[in-house]
Amino acid sequence: MKIRKPKLSDGRRIWRLVRDSGVLDINSAYCYLLQCRDYADTAAVAEDADGLAGFVTGYRPPERPDVWFVWQIGVAPRARGQGLAKRLLRDVLTRHDDLRHVEATIEPGNQASRALFASLANELSAPMLESDGFEAHHFPDGHEPEPRIHIGPFSPPYRERPLGGPVLNRLSEVRQ
Ligand SMILES: CC(C)(COP(=O)(O)OP(=O)(O)OC[C@H]1O[C@@H](n2cnc3c(N)ncnc32)[C@H](O)[C@@H]1OP(=O)(O)O)[C@@H](O)C(=O)NCCC(=O)NCCS
Repeated sequence: MKIRKPKLSDGRRIWRLVRDSGVLDINSAYCYLLQCRDYADTAAVAEDADGLAGFVTGYRPPERPDVWFVWQIGVAPRARGQGLAKRLLRDVLTRHDDLRHVEATIEPGNQASRALFASLANELSAPMLESDGFEAHHFPDGHEPEPRIHIGPFSPPYRERPLGGPVLNRLSEVRQ
């Protein structure tokens, strides 16, 4: 499984994975092209012999640049339950020593997503708080509310303590 920054050619592959997830909101293909071209530094894709296995997209809010807002994360059904979503999150965090917070919005019923971010908070030894995000009335189409979760602050260097393994000073060491 190779994890890397997305390229423009990944935009349409991400769009297909989102469409096939049946869970994620599907945005226009143009939107994913923008993510892959202009926000690649805060995104990651995973691919194996069968193609795109997962992705994460996000951005740093201009007025809060120490926050990484995770816009969407998805793993193909064949690759779930193997730690891939966590690896995608780590891949982006490893690139940015100046990040102190992670945010996302999660539909209340999405237990997998909630468990993923709770696991990340645990790994970062940081609290995970929930607050108002986007409420149902903000959407035009009867969309579920999307409460915001906030993880942080956490301190760089981003440390991970694998069970039974050494304390690593930087996640980049994990990938070597
Ligand atoms: C949410 C999603 C990205 C998780 O991907 P994944 O690669 O299977 O997740 P991981 O294997 O990295 O698991 C990370 C943690 O979440 C937990 N988790 C993952 N799926 C879970 C589920 N269905 N139920 C409960 N916990 C779950 C894992 O146990 C793990 O916890 P741990 O680190 O404490 O052991 C994947 O299920 C998915 O693509 N779902 C559809 C799209 C979606 O809902 N995206 C999120 C909203 S933006």
